[in-house]
Amino acid sequence: MNIRNSAGTIDSHTILYGVFGDPVHHSKSPVMMNAAFRELGINAAYAAFHVKPDRLRDAVYGVRALQYRGVNVTIPHKVEVMQYLDEVDEAARIIGAVNTIVNDDGKLTGYNTDGIGYVRSLKTETGSDLRGKRIVVIGAGGAARGVVHALAQERPSSIRIANRTKDKAVELAKDMSVFADCSGMGMEELSAISDADLVLNTTSVGMHPHTDQVPAANISFQPGMIVSDLIYNPLETRWLQLAGQAGAVVHRGLGMFLYQGAYAFEYWTGKPAPVEVMREAVMRSLQN
Ligand code: ATR
Repeated sequence: MNIRNSAGTIDSHTILYGVFGDPVHHSKSPVMMNAAFRELGINAAYAAFHVKPDRLRDAVYGVRALQYRGVNVTIPHKVEVMQYLDEVDEAARIIGAVNTIVNDDGKLTGYNTDGIGYVRSLKTETGSDLRGKRIVVIGAGGAARGVVHALAQERPSSIRIANRTKDKAVELAKDMSVFADCSGMGMEELSAISDADLVLNTTSVGMHPHTDQVPAANISFQPGMIVSDLIYNPLETRWLQLAGQAGAVVHRGLGMFLYQGAYAFEYWTGKPAPVEVMREAVMRSLQN
C-alpha cells in the first residue's frame, strides 16, 4: 500500500494523514510524523488542519471521501468526533475520547492512544513495572481519564486520584474501579500520603507561560519515588525540578506525546515507530 518514495517528495501515490484541532498550528505532530515516514521510506505526508467545531462533521466525511489513511484529533474535538465514526474501540469508549482515527477502506475506527502512550513512555523511560505499585494521580479531567484507564490495566495496588473539584475525582475513580482499586479525594488530602511509588500530574498547572506554578506543593517527595508530569512545555516543569532535587526519579511529559504518536503510527502503518527519530524531530522543533 505504501509505495516507497525515497526522494521524500509528494507524488500521485502519496498517502495522506493529518491532525484536526482548533487551534492547531502549534502542533508538533506533523514534524514528528513526517520524520517517522521519512525514516521508514514510507510515501506519506501528514499536515495540520484547523477545523472549527461546526466543521468537524464535514472534516470527518472528508477523510472518507479523500481516502486519508488516518488522522489524529486534538482539542477540542476528542469527544465530539466519536459520533461521526463507524466504530469506537472499547478503551476509547470507556475513556470517552478519541485521539486517533484509522480509515480502512472508508470504515473509520476511533482509538485513544494517550493513556497507553503514557504507560509505554513511563515503562520505557523509567524501566519500572507498575504491578503492585501505589499510584497517585493529580487531576481528573480528560487527560487523567485516559491515563488512569491505562494505568489501571497494569495491575497496580491502588490508584488515588486527587482533584481541585473533589467530586470529579470521586466520579473518575468510580468509573475505573472495575479495573483497579481506585479512590478519589480533594487536593488537601495529598499531604497525608507518604507511601506513593508513582505520583503524576495531569493538570495544566505549571505549563508555559505559568512555569513557576506547581500542581501540588503538599506532596512529600521521597528518594526513589517516580514523579511524572504530562506537561512538556517546559520540558521539565518546576514541580519535576523540585522532585528531582529531593531524590525522586523524574519522568517528563514529552514521552507521552511521542508514544501516543508512536501507537497511532503503528495502527496506521503496521510498522514499529522509529521513536528516537521522532523524539529528535520534536526536540529540534521545540528548540527553534
Ligand atoms: P485536560 O483534557 O487537559 O485534562 P480538562 O479536562 O479541562 O483538561 O481538565 C483539567 C484538569 O486540571 C482538571 O482536573 C482541573 O481541575 P478541576 O476539575 O477542579 O477544574 C485541573 N486544573 C486546571 N487548572 C487548575 C488549577 N489552577 N489548580 C488546580 N487544578 C487545576
